[in-house]
Amino acid sequence: MKGIILAGGAGSRLYPLTLVASKQLQPVYDKPMVYYPLTTLVENGVREICLISTPQDLPRFWQLLRNSAAWGLAVEFREQAHPGGIAQAFVIAESFIGNDSVALILGDNVFYGGDTFPRAFAEFQAGATIFGYQVHDPERYGVVEFDAHGKAISIEEKPKQPKSNYAVPGFYLYDNQVVAVAKALKPSPRGELEISDVNAKYLEQGQLRVHRLNRGFAWLDAGTSTSLHEASAYVQTIERRQGIKIGCPEEAAFRRGFINLAQLEELAAAMPNCEYRQYLQRVCQENHDG
Ligand code: DAU
Repeated sequence: MKGIILAGGAGSRLYPLTLVASKQLQPVYDKPMVYYPLTTLVENGVREICLISTPQDLPRFWQLLRNSAAWGLAVEFREQAHPGGIAQAFVIAESFIGNDSVALILGDNVFYGGDTFPRAFAEFQAGATIFGYQVHDPERYGVVEFDAHGKAISIEEKPKQPKSNYAVPGFYLYDNQVVAVAKALKPSPRGELEISDVNAKYLEQGQLRVHRLNRGFAWLDAGTSTSLHEASAYVQTIERRQGIKIGCPEEAAFRRGFINLAQLEELAAAMPNCEYRQYLQRVCQENHDG
C-alpha cells in the first residue's frame, strides 16, 4: 500500500500564522503538524509516500523531510498548483500510485489511540475503507449515515441537515480504481473534486467499508487557531503523563522494522541536544535493555 499526504491549501483560517509557514508546518506542541499524519502512515506499514503541497510550500516540506530515507522511507514530492479538491490528489499522484492501492491522509489530521487503523489495514483487500467518528458538529465534515444494521447508506459533504453525527476523518484507504474514479469526477459547486464524491461512488458500487472509531480514540482537527491550540494541549497532556511521544516518525519507523536499533541510535546522535533527541535515546536504551 502506498501513501499520500495532502498538505496544500491556503490555510486562510490560520492567518497570519500561514504568512510565514503553511498550516501543516505549524507546531502541534513539540513537532510540526505533518509529523503526526506521517507517523500514522508509518505505524500502519506505509513506507512509500507522496507528499503533495503548493509550489510555494513544497521546498519547506522537502527541507523538513529530506532525511526521511534514513528513516527507511521513500518520500516523493508533488505540486498541487491550485486547491482543486482533496480527490485531485489521486490525479496528481497517478504515476506514483502505479498499480498499487493507496492510503490518503490529510496533513492537518492528528490521530491517536486504538487499534482500528491497524485492523483496517490488515483486513483491506479491495474497494474503499473509510472511518466514522462521532462529533457534535457533523455539518463541518463529510457525514456518513448508517442503517439499523450499522451498514453505511449515504455519504454527504458538509450537509446542512446531517443524517448522523458520524463525521468522516481525513484518512482513507482505496484500491487502484480510485484514480479512475477521481478522474471521472465533476467539480462540486465550490469548484473542488470532492473526496465525499469518491466515497459515494464506492458506496454506490457496494464497495465501501466504514469502520467506526470508538470513544477512546482521539481525532483532532488542527485547522483553526483554537483547535490548533487544543491539539497542542492534548498532545502535551498525553506526552507528559505517559512519558511517550505521539507523532514521532523515527520511533514509528523503528517499531515497524523499517530501521534497526543502530540506525535509530545514529539518527538520535545526529540531532542537536534537545528533548526530542533525549526521548529517542531513551527509546534506544529501553530497547537495548529489553
Ligand atoms: O478533516 C476531515 C474532512 O476533510 C472531511 O470530513 C471532509 O469530507 C473533507 O472534505 C475535508 O473537509 P475540510 O473542510 O476539512 O477540507 P479542507 O478544504 O479544509 O481541506 C482539508 C486539508 O486538505 C487541508 O489541510 C488543506 C488540504 N487541501 C485541501 C484541498 C481542498 C489541499 O491540500 N488541497 C486541496 O485542494
